[in-house]
Amino acid sequence: MKLIVGNWKLNPSTLNEAVALTSGVNYAIKAEDFERTVLLPPFIFLEELVKKFKQIAWGAQDVFWEARGAYTGEVSLAMLKDVGIGWVLVGHSERRRIFGESDEDVNKKIKAALAQDFNVIAAVGELQRGDEADEIIDSFKKSAAGLETADLARLTVAYEPVWAISTTPGAQADSPARSNQIIGELKHAAFKMFGEPSKKIKFLYGGSVTSENALKFLSQPYIDGALVGGASLSAEEFAAIVSVSR
Ligand code: 13P
Repeated sequence: MKLIVGNWKLNPSTLNEAVALTSGVNYAIKAEDFERTVLLPPFIFLEELVKKFKQIAWGAQDVFWEARGAYTGEVSLAMLKDVGIGWVLVGHSERRRIFGESDEDVNKKIKAALAQDFNVIAAVGELQRGDEADEIIDSFKKSAAGLETADLARLTVAYEPVWAISTTPGAQADSPARSNQIIGELKHAAFKMFGEPSKKIKFLYGGSVTSENALKFLSQPYIDGALVGGASLSAEEFAAIVSVSR
């Protein structure tokens, strides 16, 4: 069963548009596919969307590890839980690159979220095409250091090469074979860290996934799903990616 996650990033601009987009997805996706579909809208829309669309698995695009205090602008896990959110994305390359998050920050976020029973999607990926696979593995190891093996069934790792993200100038999707190979290496590294329980971790590919190329990625043996950005902003396109991966 392939997991498909839609990351809306800083879109859309109004709640009305967010509701319209969700209505479209809700209409286009088959009822049995909701359990493997997760949507990540901006924080501000979450509460209303959860109330309106209870059948959809909603997640936040980020979270802070502290429970409360003097952290202006941050959102806690308890706040997300209070509005019914069960999923959280951490360590997206845009958070790392634009907002300066380190592997250590990402590690704190993963630990805090898993400890609070969230399903966590942790993103890793290299900046430039041709960067060494070792760097990706190293970033993953630091981000996942010290996790409890009992929590790994709630961990999803998204491999997103920054150069393949559709908004990067000159972006192109990775080749399915290469992303499969990198994900295979990540799975191997996870096995070395955590042993048998690491097999519960799901690994997604992200970067210019569309309804046209989705099947090529999702039919690779190591790829357990997709993290979709731009294409998740069209209900038809996103639903097509979900249905192609059944
Ligand atoms: P695109 O699907 O637009 O390339 O974005 C990928 C991404 O960053 C999802 O988190």
